Amino acid sequence: MSAATATGAVEQSFASQHADSSAAHVRARAALAGGVTHDTRLHAPFPIIVSHAQGARKWDVDGNEYVDYTMGHGALILGHGHPVMVAAVRGQIDRGTHYGAGHELEIRWAEQIARMVPSIELVRFFSSGTEATHMAMRLARAHTGRDRIVKFQGHFHGWHDYATVGVEQPFEIPTSAGVPAATRSTITALPTDLELVRAELARGDAAAVIVEPNGAGWGAVPVERAFVQGLRRLTAEHDTLLILDEVVSGFRMSPGGFQVPAGITPDLTTMAKIVAGGLPGAAVGGRADVMARLEKRGEAAWDRGQRIAHPGTYNGNPLSAAAGRAVLEHIADGAVHRQIDALGERLRQDLQEVFDRHDVGALVYGETSYFHVSLSGRPAKAGLAGAAGAALGQALLNEGVHLISNGGFVSAAHTDADIAQTVTAFDAAVGAVAAEGLFAAETDGAAAA
Ligand SMILES: Cc1ncc(COP(=O)(O)O)c(C=O)c1O
Repeated sequence: MSAATATGAVEQSFASQHADSSAAHVRARAALAGGVTHDTRLHAPFPIIVSHAQGARKWDVDGNEYVDYTMGHGALILGHGHPVMVAAVRGQIDRGTHYGAGHELEIRWAEQIARMVPSIELVRFFSSGTEATHMAMRLARAHTGRDRIVKFQGHFHGWHDYATVGVEQPFEIPTSAGVPAATRSTITALPTDLELVRAELARGDAAAVIVEPNGAGWGAVPVERAFVQGLRRLTAEHDTLLILDEVVSGFRMSPGGFQVPAGITPDLTTMAKIVAGGLPGAAVGGRADVMARLEKRGEAAWDRGQRIAHPGTYNGNPLSAAAGRAVLEHIADGAVHRQIDALGERLRQDLQEVFDRHDVGALVYGETSYFHVSLSGRPAKAGLAGAAGAALGQALLNEGVHLISNGGFVSAAHTDADIAQTVTAFDAAVGAVAAEGLFAAETDGAAAA
């Protein structure tokens, strides 16, 4: 790749290595709205179309092999097709995939979550993290009798109406059209400043503060532990609930997520991704008195006036329950975390050295088993923005590495050899983008989140 000097050479290589993906994407655009089923899977000039995956690897329809750092958008802490997950799901398929009734596995799944995250007294299951944060907000509103939710600029909590506020700059414009102004007006998106939170909570109308505890965009714009500790103190003072959105950090930053090592006890925790072992699934857990809003009591005044209704066809479905319980049990003792955190640390250091060697002022950062790359040299959600960022993403694909937006996740399936291969791929990819002069052209393309 370092010989690629002609303008657009990276993109030309990408196009010639991915002709079948290109053709499939033409069909995708005719069949799928926007040509993808998740916004972040779309990238220029067209996305790769994957055929299969195993361990730390995946392959596209062109036959290219990748070291995968998307890892199911962070869900696959054990890698693709880990035997523990596969055995649990295979074993369950023959026993039924939907009972339309309660079952033993969902109880064991909830018990396992509560064992790993002591702030959780009761659990309710969903199919996605979006549903989980939506429910957590509703629980807080029902519990406190207040409407306002305080969130933070840049923090992502899914795609439901309330979560569209204050996610991307300019923060005044919601990330989605079609959200009523009245709905948006109940959400206040603040900078991560405890004095502003204090003033906001002093109004006395905030049901909850919700936060990505490791910072916006799964830690792309990190916050200090002291900030989250401050939120805990301030919310308690104002009878406002604290919701830790641990959809990404949960079960990844430790077996007890962000909160256990940080020593912070939230009122509610939202979970998805790892919680369901790589299948669709999510949960809200927390204080029994708050979660009790979901309880049917057989009293009209409560059931029709105080209670939160919550159906959902696939809630706690047996396949997700089987995968979730098996994977959580497997990682509960922290051995997997010790392994992947060490690999994550090595990857961050080695990739930083690559950028330094090429004299590109990029920053590679992160915690535990995730990493982010920011070409501006400052923590940012849009770390691979601009022409250089787009070219680097393509060049990495050309070299057999697939990131998710501006970083990725290390799994238990990744090895030292995978890390070494990734570092070599970055070296070639950074060289190819540098050869096109794109880093120099990019002054400060990455907008701070
Ligand atoms: C912190 C956070 N909350 C909520 C969500 C939404 O989860 P889902 O994509 O399962 O709806 C995400 C998704 O990435 C997330 O990162």
